[in-house]
Amino acid sequence: MMDAQKMEKVNFTQMKDGTKEEYEFLTAHETDHTKHTADRLLRALVELDESLSGYQITRLGHSVQSATRAWRDGADIDWVVSALLHDIGDIYAPYNHDEYAATILKPFVREQCAWVVQTHGDFQMLYYGHHLEGFDQHKRERHRGHPYFDDNAVFCERWDQASFDPAYVTLPLEFFAPMVREVFDRPPYDPEIIRPSAREPLQNKLVASQRLQA
Ligand SMILES: [Fe+2]
Ligand SMILES: [Fe+2]
Repeated sequence: MMDAQKMEKVNFTQMKDGTKEEYEFLTAHETDHTKHTADRLLRALVELDESLSGYQITRLGHSVQSATRAWRDGADIDWVVSALLHDIGDIYAPYNHDEYAATILKPFVREQCAWVVQTHGDFQMLYYGHHLEGFDQHKRERHRGHPYFDDNAVFCERWDQASFDPAYVTLPLEFFAPMVREVFDRPPYDPEIIRPSAREPLQNKLVASQRLQA
C-alpha cells in the first residue's frame, strides 16, 4: 500500500477505484489549494481591468471604488469585501454575474451580504432599466418584503450605481488585500460568521469618522 506522505499522484483513472490513502492525499492537496483562494481572487480582480470598456472606469476601478465607499461609510469587513468582489462574476458569467460572485462569497461572509451580492443585478436595474427595451426597471420588486431588501437598496444606491466616477479618490487594491485574505481564511460555513437573519448596518457614522481621521 502506498504511503500518503510520499504519494505524488494517485493511480486510479476512475474515482470508484481510488483508495483511502489516495483520497487522504487528495484532500490534503485540496486543503492547501484553498489557502490561496484570496490571492487568486485578487488576481482575478486585476483581470477585470480588461473587461467591459465603454464606462469611464474599468471594472477593477468600479470594484475598488465600491469597496472604498463601503469603507468610508464605516461598513464592516463582510460588507467591504463583498463590495470589492460583487462584480467578479463579470469575467465568466456575464448573464448571472451576481449569482456567481455570491457563490464565491457565501461560505465566508454573513448571509446578509451574500444575499445582497446575489440579487444586486435585479436592484441595479432601477437605475437604467427604463432606458432599454426588454428590461424591467422595477425587477427588484420581486424581492420586496425580503428581510435584506432595504440593505440591497442602500448597497446599490450608495456603493454600486455611484461607483463609476473617475474623479473619485479611490483607495488602492492593496489596501483591501489583507481584508480579502482575512475573510477567505475563515473556516467555511461557520455559523458564527454566516449568522442567518443578522443585519449589520451599511453605514456606521462613528466608525466612518474614525476612518476619515486615520
Ligand atoms: Fe453588478
Ligand atoms: Fe457593480
